[in-house]
Amino acid sequence: MSKADGLPLIIAIDGPAASGKSTTARKVANILNYLYIDSGAMYRALTLEVIKRQVSEKDESEVVNIARESLIQLVPDKDGPRTLLNNKDVSEEIRLPEVTRIISVISAYEEVREIMKRKQRALAKNGGVVMDGRDIGTVVLPDADIKIFMDAGVDNRTDRRLKELEKKNIYVKRDRIKEEIIQRDLIDSTRDVAPLKPADDAIIIDTSDLTIDEQVQKVIDIVKEKEKSS
Ligand code: CDP
Repeated sequence: MSKADGLPLIIAIDGPAASGKSTTARKVANILNYLYIDSGAMYRALTLEVIKRQVSEKDESEVVNIARESLIQLVPDKDGPRTLLNNKDVSEEIRLPEVTRIISVISAYEEVREIMKRKQRALAKNGGVVMDGRDIGTVVLPDADIKIFMDAGVDNRTDRRLKELEKKNIYVKRDRIKEEIIQRDLIDSTRDVAPLKPADDAIIIDTSDLTIDEQVQKVIDIVKEKEKSS
């Protein structure tokens, strides 16, 4: 699919924890008037439901059942998309540290990923989307027109996550955040199914020394190049 065909693009942005991909993806989608799909929010909503039902994250078959039964929706809104879990807005709750702490266990389950992949592909089928996550360019949308892999040093990412949490009045020790990021990246990148890694044809952007606006501009430049060349 390409702009030359008159069809909107599919843009995949992957990367490790707090690499700036979600903020960038959301802003790029706004500029292009595309739909932003936060695949991490879907895994977060499932994790929240597992916690609410007091099921252990290690109980794979029960987690898979919950994934089958849960209605997870991403609904566009003027201030960015909202995440609905069984018709309830959980956009704030899914960012809580207790969700983040166990999410990588849940998102490593193969059947959970199958369920999410089906939902994510359905959301992207008409194009005009920016989807961010860990396996979007490699597994979910391998035919995406543009694939970006955003990375940054772990200290930069720790500082960003701390600031993000502080804005929400959540105060966690820096060391603990750093350790959690390292652990989560390790689980995400070494799991058997859909591990975090750049697609062979991904453009890698190191955001360590970039501002959000610079990151966004880089992606917009890539989109413009793509439109010219197709
Ligand atoms: O906190 P951060 O913004 O880095 O993460 P997120 O995008 O909300 O994703 C949270 C977690 O969901 C990741 O650490 C992965 O375990 C999982 N995830 C995944 O496995 N595949 C995706 N496409 C997106 C998220």
